[in-house]
This record gives sequence, C-alpha cells and structure tokens, in this order.
Amino acid sequence: MKRLEEKIKSCRKCPLGQLRTNAVPGSGSYDAGIMFVGEAPGYWEDQKGLPFVGRAGRILDELLKEIGLKREDVYITNIVKCRPPGNRDPSEEEIRACSPYLDMQIDIIRPRIIVPLGRHSMGYILRKFGFEPEPISRIHGKVFEAGTLFGRILIVPVYHPAVALYKPALKEELRRDFRNIRALLGV
Ligand code: SF4
Ligand code: URA
Repeated sequence: MKRLEEKIKSCRKCPLGQLRTNAVPGSGSYDAGIMFVGEAPGYWEDQKGLPFVGRAGRILDELLKEIGLKREDVYITNIVKCRPPGNRDPSEEEIRACSPYLDMQIDIIRPRIIVPLGRHSMGYILRKFGFEPEPISRIHGKVFEAGTLFGRILIVPVYHPAVALYKPALKEELRRDFRNIRALLGV
C-alpha cells in the first residue's frame, strides 16, 4: 500500500495531475474492516494531501465518533485522487483513469464493508460489484452483498457528508445509516 500511495502521489495519468497541489491517496488503517469512499479531493484536501480534512471532513469525523470509530480504525479515500478545478464533479474519463487505484486499494485492504459517500461514489462501487445504481434518496443505508475473490463484502451507500452542511434532515438520515453500519460491524 505504501508503494501504491507513492505511485499515486507522482501520477500524471490524467490532466488533473497537472492542476493539483497534492494528490490524496487515502488515509487510515491498511487492515481496516471498513472503507469509506468519497468522490474527489476539495480545496483543503489538495492543500494537505489528506482526505476529508475540510468542512465535509468534520462532519465525517463527527459521524464516526458517534459510532465509536476513529480515523485510524478505518480507511478513507476517494474515487479520484486529485482535485478537479473549482471542485467540479470528476469526468467519466478522469474516473476511468484513476479508479484502478481504488480497485487496488480495495484488493489490498480487503474490507468487510465498503461505504460509498455520495452518489458518484455509489454509482462507481455498485457497478463495480454488479449492481445497478438507483437514486441515493431511495437506497442510502441499504445493504448490498457482493462476492469477491477475497470473500463476501457488504456495500452500504450513504449520503455525502457535505449534504449535512445545508440539509439538517439528511444529517439525521446519515446518523441513522451510520448506526446501522456499526451494527453490521458488530462493534
Ligand atoms: Fe493520476 Fe488519478 Fe491524479 Fe489523474 S486524478 S493524475 S489518474 S492520481
Ligand atoms: N469530499 C470528498 O468527496 N472527498 C474529500 O476528500 C473531501 C470532500
């Protein structure tokens, strides 16, 4: 994983590599049982080279804390490792160029649970494991079970933590989904 993270830090496979300050490979435990996958780095993530360290990151920390988890207990990364200018959505091409890194991270960590944060991440992860995505308002918190070469995994898509910043009702939904995730982890 260390080698992979180094490779990501010097990657220039897509145009985002020219525009970034720092690539953001991911952070946390390499043998975490649970992996959180966001969309792409924002301003602060690009500045610091770490995932979810801006305002959405504070919400994620709060949600983790409420279910008794610390960042060191989980692995946090994104579909795309370099910041798209102006925080626009990553393009299909950028996702295609970058997602092999995420695939490798999943194979290294072999998590029991993957939690896609937000609909773009949900779309990528569900398709990767053979499911057809539906609107996130309908399937957030739903548990998808998939087989992999390393065994059975559960996928639980949730809203992106940034939505909690402007929609308090969705923050409650996020809280509820995180409590169910804790129950699945059996902690
Ligand atoms: Fe490489 Fe991904 Fe950064 Fe593009 S976004 S340069 S593929 S690490
Ligand atoms: N939003 C994301 O999707 N990822 C981050 O790392 C930060 C904000």
